[in-house]
Amino acid sequence: MMSENGGKTIAELNNKFSNSDPEVVLKKLSETYPQQVVFSSSFGLEDQVITDIISTSGVTVEVFTIDTGRLFPETYKTWQRTLEKYNISIKVYYPEPALLEEMLGRKGPFSFYESVENRLECCHIRKVLPLQRALQGKKVWVTGLRAEQSENRKNLSLFQWDSVHQVIKYNPLLTWSTEDIRRFISSRNVPYNSLHDKGFPSIGCQPCTRAIREGENFRAGRWWWENNSSKECGLHPVSS
Ligand code: ADX
Ligand code: SF4
Repeated sequence: MMSENGGKTIAELNNKFSNSDPEVVLKKLSETYPQQVVFSSSFGLEDQVITDIISTSGVTVEVFTIDTGRLFPETYKTWQRTLEKYNISIKVYYPEPALLEEMLGRKGPFSFYESVENRLECCHIRKVLPLQRALQGKKVWVTGLRAEQSENRKNLSLFQWDSVHQVIKYNPLLTWSTEDIRRFISSRNVPYNSLHDKGFPSIGCQPCTRAIREGENFRAGRWWWENNSSKECGLHPVSS
């Protein structure tokens, strides 16, 4: 459910900015909500486009990442190359060590393969709780979500009211195609994760992501052993 206030603002924002460039919108948002606009990056292709736009346009949007502790070496490398190319700082949120120690001690390092419940528990500790801390006291959350990525994501809007985190969610690349993203990346020489060239369109944690095969959908390599789950980790609940 959208709050009355949130609902009104969201409709206005969607109306006003439906055809605007991301940098124009980010500038406006950062002026309207100083220090309260944040962008979450997992160093995927889309996120790299947004980081490039933020860095080169000089808008004051905080960039943060959630280091789940189980990322691919290639992802850490992309993170490093991003720091080297752009003169920005990237804030890091890490899972609460006591919660990790308790879960790992109780269930071992691969509990997520055993049940959807275990998988969601791991995602909750490693991603969802750190995200809650990152969004605390913020007004706008910028993400790299795109409509093409999944059936669920086709229903998203440019601006959404995230009732869980009580923030305005802004998806600047919502209508961009994979080719649009690729074109931007190569024309601006943006550093990107080498796994994208090896069959990984969508990259999450290393033990929970595999390459996709010819004809498989964008997110088929995420939690591939689960058949009936929503294939989301809780960062982006299907309804928000
Ligand atoms: S997920 O929910 O399945 O993991 P996905 O990998 O498609 O998400 O990424 C969608 C968006 O969620 C990214 O563009 C980014 O904004 C955010 N996101 C996902 N994982 C992270 C992460 N580890 N750190 C920060 N942001 C993330
Ligand atoms: Fe844990 Fe896998 Fe979720 Fe990463 S994607 S937090 S390793 S269950």
